[in-house]
Amino acid sequence: MPIAMRIAAPTTPDAAPAHDEAAIIRSILESYALEPLGYHGVLHWARVLENGLRVADVNGADREVVTLFALFHDARRLNESRDHGHGQRGGDFARTLRGSLVHLDDAQFTLFYEACRLHTDGHTDADPTLQACWDADRLDLGRVGITPAPHRLCTAAARSLLPWAHERAIMYHQPMEVLTRWGLGDLVNGRNDRERIDR
Ligand SMILES: [Fe+2]
Ligand SMILES: [Fe+2]
Repeated sequence: MPIAMRIAAPTTPDAAPAHDEAAIIRSILESYALEPLGYHGVLHWARVLENGLRVADVNGADREVVTLFALFHDARRLNESRDHGHGQRGGDFARTLRGSLVHLDDAQFTLFYEACRLHTDGHTDADPTLQACWDADRLDLGRVGITPAPHRLCTAAARSLLPWAHERAIMYHQPMEVLTRWGLGDLVNGRNDRERIDR
């Protein structure tokens, strides 16, 4: 049974972003417990965003939910390995920003929160927006030496993206357009891939 009901969300690809992503990033990093350029840090979040929006282009996922998932799902990690409950903590943190930096209606927030809370549980059967979020994260497993198994991805769209996304993951690709929009261009400029991988 699907984990959450399908929500018919506006998904116009060229719609202006509803969220101030740079302000959200600043809020997250003010109290982020780990190295921002670490394995679960901002470069991962940026690749997750680009992965997720590409899945959304195909499966109709809610782009604002996918965007906030990319920003928050690992935002409250306390370590870089097994960290039980970190997804829920990310969702809880986002809840404190509702009305200021987070602008989702209740149905969207429920989807977002469940996407964060359950993202490490291995589910594949869910609302398309949750599927896009989880696939976006799984497509980036190459950065920690894991090749995603196609049958563990939720969507055909993600399976099609796997070669492209996995190459970017293992190369620790910097999505500069996203990082610049987030105000993080200076954070990554001048660092080569090896320096980041060694962190
Ligand atoms: Fe995570
Ligand atoms: Fe992640």
